[in-house]
Amino acid sequence: AAVEKGNYRHFMQKEIFEQPTVVAQTLQSYIHQADNRVALPQIDFDLSAISRITLVACGTSFYAGMVAKYWFETFARVPVDIDVASEFRYREPPLEDGGLALFISQSGETADTLAALRHCKANGQTIAVVVNVPTSSMAREADLLLPTHAGPEIGVASTKAFTCQLAVLAALAAHLAVKKGRIDRAEEQEIVRHLLEAPACLNAALDHDDDIAGMAHLIAPARDVLYLGRGPDYPLALEGALKLKEISYIHAEGYASGEMKHGPIALIDEAVPVIVLAPSGPLFEKTVSNMQEVRARGGKIVLISDEEGLAEAGEGCLATIQMPRVHPLIAPLVYAVPVQLLAYHVACAKGTDVDQPRNLAKSVTVE
Ligand code: G6P
Repeated sequence: AAVEKGNYRHFMQKEIFEQPTVVAQTLQSYIHQADNRVALPQIDFDLSAISRITLVACGTSFYAGMVAKYWFETFARVPVDIDVASEFRYREPPLEDGGLALFISQSGETADTLAALRHCKANGQTIAVVVNVPTSSMAREADLLLPTHAGPEIGVASTKAFTCQLAVLAALAAHLAVKKGRIDRAEEQEIVRHLLEAPACLNAALDHDDDIAGMAHLIAPARDVLYLGRGPDYPLALEGALKLKEISYIHAEGYASGEMKHGPIALIDEAVPVIVLAPSGPLFEKTVSNMQEVRARGGKIVLISDEEGLAEAGEGCLATIQMPRVHPLIAPLVYAVPVQLLAYHVACAKGTDVDQPRNLAKSVTVE
């Protein structure tokens, strides 16, 4: 049956709002209800033996991979070599015998990612794929198929597939950490408990839709926008900038907060809004000093943080968006919502074709 928009104006908007449901669905299929442990499909491969992961994807799926790199490395202590598919193949990366190569794709058909997969397969790698279309080429060619249950994604700019990819990748990282003997059963259950909080937190983030719609006119006139984030929220800054570019045609860049002083700070003036993604926590103070660097140059800040972060650093901002206080593990899922909504409402304010942005395709099947 054809997928319909229902009461939503655009597919993208509908898909943003589906996230609590589809993330819950996806998590359910990876978690043993009885004991809150991660359950993966059977695989004829010893995960405890891997010493490195090669991770390859494109676009938004690549940013999900960047977030996952933090998780694989911090939980499982397994180093991750990550690259965009179009670069990966041609740099002839050395691949260890019997290594694990992980591919992330909504469509399962992106030509560069598929070619990288085949390259890894031909070089003796075990192939794991996180994919949303279970009948796709990548799904068929995988040794370990890890489906996301986001349902059909129609909007060209990916939204719900991204948060579902993060859910699967977090579960995989926890599972790998157990296999590698890095965490015990109780710690795994603790991680799972936090993951299961994600759907409610996504709902709480969606409650700020009206606030975000109300500030779209502040961003819509900008020619350039800068997004900043740290740690696992740095890829979210990249994703925020990508979303804005894709559908509003405003030039946007994502940067690691601490790297701003090595370049983008030269661009900052009152005409360049700076969107800061910063949940409160141990790194918050560092981000606050980066915000001061922006302010000192007349820059206008939109701070996306929780109650504590906004209380500390919200004053003097152009606008603030309040997120629920969340465990750091699920922050990248929850903070995806305001960056998606901001891009969406800015695009609506500009009157662009949100679901079919110019020059872009849902699935890029040419290399
Ligand atoms: C295109 C889409 C993006 C998507 C990327 C990767 O560029 O417009 O939204 O992130 O392809 O697609 P995939 O299906 O491999 O995740």
